Amino acid sequence: MTQTVTSVADWKQLRAEFDETGESLGLVPTMGALHAGHTSLVERSLEENAQTVVSIFVNPTQFNDATDLKNYPRTLDADIQTLERLGVDYAFVPDRDTVYPDAYRYRLVEGDVSKRLCGAHRPGHFDGVLTIVMRLLNIIHPHRAYFGEKDYQQYYLIKDMIRALFMDVEIRRCPIVRDADGVALSSRNALLTAEGRDLAAQFATILRRGESMEAVRSQLEERGIEVDYVEDWSGRRLAAVVIDDVRLIDNVET
Ligand code: PAF
Repeated sequence: MTQTVTSVADWKQLRAEFDETGESLGLVPTMGALHAGHTSLVERSLEENAQTVVSIFVNPTQFNDATDLKNYPRTLDADIQTLERLGVDYAFVPDRDTVYPDAYRYRLVEGDVSKRLCGAHRPGHFDGVLTIVMRLLNIIHPHRAYFGEKDYQQYYLIKDMIRALFMDVEIRRCPIVRDADGVALSSRNALLTAEGRDLAAQFATILRRGESMEAVRSQLEERGIEVDYVEDWSGRRLAAVVIDDVRLIDNVET
């Protein structure tokens, strides 16, 4: 049975019990609309920790586009059922005022990596991500936290923040999960039309071919796919495209 917790005070009370027993705690932060990519993070946390908490919160401060925030899929009942099926101990489902009692007057701003790649196209996005992740870590106080490699730049920045701010948590990186057609799993895939889905599969195939960055960009553009960037960085080739007004990201080891 997954216990849903919505307030910080309730969580603190539960957390005090693990402190007494010394049991390890894993956190999987999510924005809900759970898919097999999330499931792989949850399964890893369940394997490595005595207790697992999955947070579900569509974080408004990381959306630089109001329509994107409005359209973001919200499937809380189905998500809780998924967590039950997986045997997750706790779902932390706060509302906005619970995690932002200051209405986002306090925020974490990173001055370099967060401005590049996705950050160059989504001003303020990573400040919102880092701020919510820091808040969730401060509230939940897990031993380990799990992030997917699909959001590689996010993973990189979170890991870097933990080191820079001497935060006491282990960050675990989990591989990208792909559908049979190669598309990296993302909650946003649900917003694609059938034609868009076909283009998304072509995006995944072209990106993974190992050709030059210019060749990848031109092959995508030839198919009418809008390219935000294709760039080699930190040992990976990363790309973001827009298909059906939906922004999709992917990356592959170089
Ligand atoms: O990767 C996500 O779903 C989000 O960016 C995260 C880490 C849950 C923060 O809102």
